[in-house]
Amino acid sequence: MLSKFLYVGCVLTASLSAAQSVPPVVVPQAGVSAQSFDMSQVSLSNSRWSDNQGRTLNYLKFVDVERLLYNFRANHKLSVKGATPNGGWDAPDFPFRTHAQGHYLTAWVHCYATLRDSLCRDRATYFVAELAKCQANNAAAGFNTGYLSGFPESEFSALEARTLSNGNVPYYAVHKTMAGLLDAWRIMGDTKARDVVLGMAGWVDGRTEKLSTTQMQQMLGTEFGGMNDVLANIYQLTGDKRWLTVAQRFDHAAVFDPLAANQDRVNGLHANTQVPKWIGAAREYQATGNQRYLDIARNAWAITVNAHSYAIGGNSQAEHFHAPNAIAQYLTNDTAEQCNTYNMLKLTRELWTMDPSTANYFDFYERALINHLLGAQNPADSHGHITYFTPLNPSGHRGIGPAWGGGTWSTDYNSFWCCQGTALETNTKLMDSIYFYDSSTLWVNLFTPSILNWSQRGVTVTQTTSFPLNDTTTLRVTGSGDWAMRIRIPAWTTGAEIKINGQEAEGVEIKSGTYAQLSRAWKSGDTVTVKLPMKLRAVPANDNPNVAAVAYGPVVLSGNYGSSMLSAVPSLALDSLRRTSTSSLSFTATANGKAVNLGPFYEANGFNYNVYWATSGSNKTGGFKKAENSQKAEGTGLPCGCVSAWSSSLVYH
Ligand SMILES: *[C@@H]1O[C@H](CO)[C@@H](O)[C@H](O)[C@H]1NC(C)=O
Ligand SMILES: *[C@@H]1O[C@H](CO)[C@@H](O)[C@H](O)[C@H]1NC(C)=O
Ligand SMILES: *[C@@H]1O[C@H](CO)[C@@H](O)[C@H](O)[C@H]1NC(C)=O
Ligand SMILES: *[C@@H]1O[C@H](CO)[C@@H](O)[C@H](O)[C@H]1NC(C)=O
Repeated sequence: MLSKFLYVGCVLTASLSAAQSVPPVVVPQAGVSAQSFDMSQVSLSNSRWSDNQGRTLNYLKFVDVERLLYNFRANHKLSVKGATPNGGWDAPDFPFRTHAQGHYLTAWVHCYATLRDSLCRDRATYFVAELAKCQANNAAAGFNTGYLSGFPESEFSALEARTLSNGNVPYYAVHKTMAGLLDAWRIMGDTKARDVVLGMAGWVDGRTEKLSTTQMQQMLGTEFGGMNDVLANIYQLTGDKRWLTVAQRFDHAAVFDPLAANQDRVNGLHANTQVPKWIGAAREYQATGNQRYLDIARNAWAITVNAHSYAIGGNSQAEHFHAPNAIAQYLTNDTAEQCNTYNMLKLTRELWTMDPSTANYFDFYERALINHLLGAQNPADSHGHITYFTPLNPSGHRGIGPAWGGGTWSTDYNSFWCCQGTALETNTKLMDSIYFYDSSTLWVNLFTPSILNWSQRGVTVTQTTSFPLNDTTTLRVTGSGDWAMRIRIPAWTTGAEIKINGQEAEGVEIKSGTYAQLSRAWKSGDTVTVKLPMKLRAVPANDNPNVAAVAYGPVVLSGNYGSSMLSAVPSLALDSLRRTSTSSLSFTATANGKAVNLGPFYEANGFNYNVYWATSGSNKTGGFKKAENSQKAEGTGLPCGCVSAWSSSLVYH
């Protein structure tokens, strides 16, 4: 851990101005044994991943910063400088306007951190400086010191008195601004951002210290984002226990107590209100070493992943959790809110760094990133707009729907939904969880074309692959030294192979659902080839083994129904699935007695798709079938990617 921050502290200094110095974490992080790389150390090579990043960066550089400042300035009684007000969830009369801006700030910071892009840096720096002016004008605006938001502070008085009536979630919005400022401080070293966020933290302390425990817990009944997370982070950067005390005021007993006892009582709760609290619990464990926090975070993760998630890794229907395992009953056009998965991935990553020998954390990360988040961005839009929900109803569709529902794409200035904000972060940090390290180990968690500059060791690792279109990835090492490479062998594969410089890796245990460890004196040019054979597998709904999604390796497949509408889940003959191409993940099958083409769900755009099927001709108890023969897939000459390839283990349920 220490080496990371020493590295960040000295190497970046050269490119940071006087007002920029990256703060070290001064409170030891309990339980953390794998470190993340600084974003500047990993870059994406050309792929769908970097394409997503590029589209989001286009938007981040295009968007009018003055418009994003409008509500802050108006609320803090400063000139709006002639800017046009935004629409959607940033309209001047929208209750929690300015909730999105913290995500823009974080995304500009990501852009600078990974690419050293000066336009992104200047936007972030300017935004922070303008927010500081708003906060500095509080006396004139009639607000308490430190307050910063696009809506009046009186909303907090109403929140505390439980008389809020306009659907506002004021701490939820303020948390996001604080998180953006925190990132500008801790990643970019912006000391003005530090001062503004510490001012806000002081304001939160002032408001909450006056409340009784009962009043505070009642107030936590209103969505408050990750207030415990951001304040615990501030404690870790400052060492000032005051911020830990304020963080812990946001421990929501009604949600935390059952989770500490590993009870699934999330039915009926607004899903995305909960996940940030769990991330906060993980952070509070790191800050305190109190095991109860870790239990809460781990149990919440397992409950959500195992009993409340669809095959694509998303959770929630109409933004809510339902009864445990209720999946097939809720295949609607408002499934899988994107924010929830953004937050689940943050939680997954945190938990994994405290338990890096457990491979299923990144099995889930991969599943949700590929099948939910990647495809929630519109590849045909140069600004990379996104969907709020990912509809899983029969003949679902991305790109249509009511004003903010279904699969509608976001817009430049008239949506500003929660999921638009979180997607800006998702698509500017696609490199941040591929590799991790400690003093003697490099973990390879994701198979994403990228270049890692492990400068602490003078080593570069270049990962080349078109995964998941191809099952093989190549890792070429430049530089030398004794260390171990630990490669995640996903639970969905069988028969994985690892070669070093073309030779089978000797004495290496390669087991699905674990890490394979290559310990070695590395030499420049050493090349590791990892083959992760993919097979068709069914992912049955927990509540109905006869309803299942189908996946090929990590990739959930969907049927292309063109403009046809389906009135019910179609019946798919599992035995009829055939791969039809060697170069793409194209399949064909018989469903409802007719031929249907299937392909990766993350690419299902511009047509009605289908993800869950009533499975027939298959093993009803397990949703899979093993082949008796070894047919060739029709017309491809490929070893059969069909019946014989049905997996004999169900990975996620
Ligand atoms: C989503 O489903 C609801 C209820 O079935 C329906 O009223 C609404 O029009 C649907 N929206 C879209 C975009 O299909
Ligand atoms: C890796 O990063 C270090 C520190 O920033 C830099 O000096 C070095 O040139 C980088 N190496 C490569 C291959 O980019
Ligand atoms: C997959 O990648 C490997 C290694 O780069 C290559 O040899 C193989 O031909 C590729 N397979 C397909 C189907 O593209
Ligand atoms: C279905 O799969 C299960 C689990 O492997 C097996 O025990 C059972 O015999 C299979 N049933 C049929 C009808 O093939």
